[in-house]
Amino acid sequence: MTWAVIGGSGALPMAAAFAPAELPPNRFGEPAAGACRGVIAGRDVLYLPRHGRPRHLAPHLVNYRANLEALRAAGVRGVVGLNTVGGIGPSAATGAILVPDQLIDYTWGREHTFAEPDRLLHVDFAEPFDAALRRRLLDAAARAGLAAVDGGVYGATQGPRFETAAEIERMARDGCDLVGMTGMPEAALAREAELDYAMVSLVVNPAAGRAENPFDMAAIQATAADGMARIERLLLAFFEGLDGG
Ligand code: HPA
Repeated sequence: MTWAVIGGSGALPMAAAFAPAELPPNRFGEPAAGACRGVIAGRDVLYLPRHGRPRHLAPHLVNYRANLEALRAAGVRGVVGLNTVGGIGPSAATGAILVPDQLIDYTWGREHTFAEPDRLLHVDFAEPFDAALRRRLLDAAARAGLAAVDGGVYGATQGPRFETAAEIERMARDGCDLVGMTGMPEAALAREAELDYAMVSLVVNPAAGRAENPFDMAAIQATAADGMARIERLLLAFFEGLDGG
C-alpha cells in the first residue's frame, strides 16, 4: 500500500532531504506545490506540504480536493495528516501530540466534497478517522517512547485569523479539545476518496483566551520545531511497524 503524509505549518525535518515529486494538476486544479518523495523505514512515502512550498496558501485557500485527488491518482491509499493546533481541553497542553478521534466542522465556503450533480456521495462519517490507522499511530508513538494522547475532538475553524475567546468558549462547550484550520474538509474528502486517513496534531499554543502569557510567535515556532522532531520519530516507528500493509 502506498502512503502519503500531508504536512502542515510545522515542517517535517526529514522532508528537506526528499526528492521532488511531480503531482500533475487534475480536474480540481493544482495540488500544493512542493510535493516530494522519500524513503522512510524502507518504504516509499509521498510528502505533500498542504500550504505549498514555500508556504504561501492560507488554510481557506488550500485546494483540498486537488490535493486528495492528486494523492489518489498517484496510487496512495493511506494518508497521515499532520497539523499544528491550539489547545482547548485539559488533554491538549502546549507541546502535546494528539491523535484525534472526532471532529466538528466550523469552516464555511470551502470546496468540501467530491459529490457532483450526477454523483451523489453520502459517506458514513460517524467515525471521521480510520480506526486501524489511529491505533497504528498510537502504537508507533508508544514504541518510540513518545507520549501521544489517544483521542480528542478537533474543531476545524475557517481562519486565517485566530478565534475570539468567546468562540473558543463555545467550542469548549461543544466538546472540542483542539482547534485548527485545516482538518476539514481534508478528512471528509479523504473518506469520500476511500483513503484511510488519520491526523497527528501538535498543540503549539493555548487557544484564544486560555493563555497565561501573551501570544508569542517565537515560542510557537520553537514548540512546533520540537514537536515536529518528535512527530518525525513517531512516523519512523509507524513506517517501521507496517508489515506489507
Ligand atoms: N487556532 C486555530 N488554528 C491554530 C491554532 C489556534 O489557536 N494554533 C495553531 N493552529
